[in-house]
Amino acid sequence: MWGRFIFILSLVLLPFEVMAEAEVRKLPQPDKSSELMQLLDKRHSSRSYSNKPVSEQTLSDLLWAAFGINQKGTRTVPTAMNKQNLNVYVVYQNSIWSYDAAANSLIKVSDEEISDYIAKQDFVKDAPVNLIYTGSDKEFSSFHAGAAAQNVYLYATNKGLNTIVRAYIDKDELKDKLHLGREEFVIMNQVIGYPENNF
Ligand SMILES: Cc1cc2nc3c(=O)[nH]c(=O)nc-3n(C[C@H](O)[C@H](O)[C@H](O)COP(=O)(O)O)c2cc1C
Repeated sequence: MWGRFIFILSLVLLPFEVMAEAEVRKLPQPDKSSELMQLLDKRHSSRSYSNKPVSEQTLSDLLWAAFGINQKGTRTVPTAMNKQNLNVYVVYQNSIWSYDAAANSLIKVSDEEISDYIAKQDFVKDAPVNLIYTGSDKEFSSFHAGAAAQNVYLYATNKGLNTIVRAYIDKDELKDKLHLGREEFVIMNQVIGYPENNF
């Protein structure tokens, strides 16, 4: 009877014994002296935007940061098996565009008004640029979009822009409005613009 009780008690206490014995290594403080570390330290999501326009140069820069072609000839973010199969759509100046990194161009998709399908939170309508990330890889597209979005966060932080990634969008309607193929799906939205009172 007692033997059984002690056996059960030891099973219950086992996780705590394991925890108590875990080795702990205190790390040195992160060295935040570099510009990159300071940008990471300041990165944040913003839910307040002015309608101040973003210049074409800024748009070009932030799209390159998101998914441009880098020195090595791959992208500014890693892609599974180097398939480079992320697509970035831009809602800018009341039109929808597709980013063509190789040609460093925007290709017009349509002039349709789609803000209702993106802007389910009021602040979104104030912002001058909305990116929509799409992909066709069920396993890795979210990773690709997340990496691109983080690049844009760092770019925005560096340039005094606000940004936020959002999943609260109407993905089915947007798939239709972006004329996506059968396999292509909408992953998320990223809002970009200047902070309020930044004229
Ligand atoms: C995949 C994903 C989806 C998100 N969707 C939304 C969203 O729909 N609306 C929103 O206001 N914030 C959204 N966020 C932003 C998070 O709320 C935000 O990153 C989190 O609160 C942490 O704040 P920080 O980015 O300032 O560190 C999303 C973030 C991620 C990563």
